[in-house]
Amino acid sequence: MTTPIEKKYTDSRPNSQKKYQSSEKLFPNGVTHDARMMKPFPYYISHAEGSKKWDIDGNEYVDYKSGHGAMLLGHAHPEIIKVVNETIAKGSLPGASTELEVAWAQAIKNLVPSAEKIRFTSSGTEADMMGMRIMRAYTGKDKIIKFEHHFHGWSDGASATGGVDANWEYGIPKQVLDTMVIIPPNDISIVESTLENDNNIAGIMLEPTGAHMGQYPIRPSFVKELRELCTKKNIVLMFDEVVTGFRVARGGAEEYIGVKPDISSWAKVLGGGLPGGCVTGQAQFMEILEKTPESKGMYHPGTFNAYPISAAAGAKALTIVKNTNVNEIAAERGQQLVTGINNVLTKLEVPGYAYGQDSLVHLKLGVEANSVEDLINMPSDEPNVFNSGALNHQLGLSLLNQGIDSWSASRFIMMASHTEEDVNKTISAMENAFIEAREQGSM
Ligand SMILES: Cc1ncc(COP(=O)(O)O)c(C=O)c1O
Repeated sequence: MTTPIEKKYTDSRPNSQKKYQSSEKLFPNGVTHDARMMKPFPYYISHAEGSKKWDIDGNEYVDYKSGHGAMLLGHAHPEIIKVVNETIAKGSLPGASTELEVAWAQAIKNLVPSAEKIRFTSSGTEADMMGMRIMRAYTGKDKIIKFEHHFHGWSDGASATGGVDANWEYGIPKQVLDTMVIIPPNDISIVESTLENDNNIAGIMLEPTGAHMGQYPIRPSFVKELRELCTKKNIVLMFDEVVTGFRVARGGAEEYIGVKPDISSWAKVLGGGLPGGCVTGQAQFMEILEKTPESKGMYHPGTFNAYPISAAAGAKALTIVKNTNVNEIAAERGQQLVTGINNVLTKLEVPGYAYGQDSLVHLKLGVEANSVEDLINMPSDEPNVFNSGALNHQLGLSLLNQGIDSWSASRFIMMASHTEEDVNKTISAMENAFIEAREQGSM
């Protein structure tokens, strides 16, 4: 049965509905990224600027998808547009070293203390693949510890979930899945006993603020314990900074938490809104790519490595990060949103908790929590109306109907271009969304 919220969504998007009919014939599920799948159909965006984007039916949205987290500076930032235009006019891919890649790497080094040496890739997935290979080449060991729910791109090894998300593992040989050891986070004794029982583990990788952009938070003290353990056991500690990098702090989670990893993967904000990733690390680990008496020299080609247009946009973005207060603005707006949503939950007596790491804002419905520690200590969810996904779907559509694009009302990624007015509009829309969902019987 079509709900009133769904009907309103459909009625105001005839052009998107028609475009989806063409897309379904072209793409599996009609989309080009699994996270963009939407019922009854996705909206199609024509353009974006600052904190806003517009669909092909002329609907305006305050955007919290934020380019999957890449657009810290906001859409169509004039300085990024300028540098991209200037660079592309000089030829996009010379197939040789450029000054731009040197400037991009230097901009990273200016912000990240552990980045003694750097290699560029085309995406976060590739950076994570490379990081895993460095761990194995450096230690001569095969297996890698990954934590439950942590996302490290969609390469074969990184997609291992310990059987939790079966579709992530679909198509991957068992032998590859067996090289990944999946354990729960936040309990160092489990990591210790895993290492005691298996001497073929090369290293540990993690999203340092917690799985899914911090949705499942990690205690900073646990990350510190991991650091000590990896040093003691002589294995590699890798931070996946693809989301946290240049966002939760200028120097990423390593600055935010105050723990120095051996190597890290980066993407998203790194490219200033263009594709690009990299692995950084302390020299002894990165030098595994060099041929020396001790090292065979780990192989690393890639047509679009250090893609000049991305290098130019990325170096410019990181310079803006270094010299302006974009991180503080995005974090402030994030906290404004967290407070506003929690006030709405209290006012409407909806069980739930909004929280976040500065500019990454999450909303978990159906819980009674007052702190992140409460969330960490909570037993696994019992399925109920609040965490079935169905309610979030209705809330997300209601927000879209009110001109707010979030991740199904459960995640909001802040940009420095968000204004206080944008956030106030979002808080009011959240309140209306709960009221509409209640009225139509979704909660
Ligand atoms: C923590 C994390 N690692 C890796 C990736 C993969 O990056 P990409 O989409 O650039 O391949 C993502 C993407 O969302 C991510 O969130």
